[in-house]
Amino acid sequence: MRTVKEIMENARRARVVIPAFNIPYLPMVRPIVEAVVAQNAFALLEVARLEWTKFEAKSMAAVFEEFSRWSQPDHVRLHLDHIPVIDEDNQRVDYLTLIREAIALGYPSVMVDGSRLSLAENIAATRQVVDVAHPAGVVVEAELGAILGHEAGPLPPYEELFASGRGFTDVEECARFVAESGCDSLSVAIGSIHGAVSGVLKDQPKVEARLNLDHLERLHQAAGIPLVLHGGSGIKRDHLLAAVQRGITKVNVGTEIRQAYEAALRQTQDVAAAQQAVYERTTWLLRDYFVLTGNRDLINPS
Ligand code: 13P
Repeated sequence: MRTVKEIMENARRARVVIPAFNIPYLPMVRPIVEAVVAQNAFALLEVARLEWTKFEAKSMAAVFEEFSRWSQPDHVRLHLDHIPVIDEDNQRVDYLTLIREAIALGYPSVMVDGSRLSLAENIAATRQVVDVAHPAGVVVEAELGAILGHEAGPLPPYEELFASGRGFTDVEECARFVAESGCDSLSVAIGSIHGAVSGVLKDQPKVEARLNLDHLERLHQAAGIPLVLHGGSGIKRDHLLAAVQRGITKVNVGTEIRQAYEAALRQTQDVAAAQQAVYERTTWLLRDYFVLTGNRDLINPS
């Protein structure tokens, strides 16, 4: 069986994107796996710490167990998303304990998010995680730059953020970060924002984000490893597809499928109907938005 690292390398070479679907509610696992298999696609399922602290994913063990029930390893693998060193509420997190727990459970891929630290501290925290993960054969995603949206409260106006490039990943820092941290993939800030996770904002549609593609290209050249785009819901489609040609290998998608699940559940009070809504949204994303039907034959052939 190919490792996540090998599949990501295949995807980077073929300029094919791997979507990573977030799981804030356990019943979302099954319809996402089924949609990916039906499209003969390859995708990751992922859970972030805030999805068990602020939503209903329960725990990383609960997600692992639910994933194992429906798992189709030729088509889907599990990833641990955002384990922050400092979280969206500015609290310190015992990230190393959580990462160790994930590795012990059998997660093949983990993320440490030191993006709220200084460059040197982010490198040190990521290196620490790499030193724990690599001997266990587990790959590590890290983050450099400020991808806003998870913090409580309103964001600065999007156009102002995008035009100023404030918080975008710096090219020289990117090269140094990859060399010194030893991470396998890197989440970069190039214009996307995370969907809100608290208050009334979490139910509202996201702004249609754009991406600075020239900046992305420079980052990809500097990094030389697969790059990751967070805040993947609702990005201007031609920007997203162009970004895949310029070095984005994995795209995280949360809000879009979470809101589909929550809206259907609110309307019907029926988990099966909410699962059907997730199935349909995931199918649309794979087939019509990312155009990934059949991508599995390219990046993880049997
Ligand atoms: P969205 O919720 O904006 O799709 O972002 C998901 C994400 O980046 C999770 O890490």
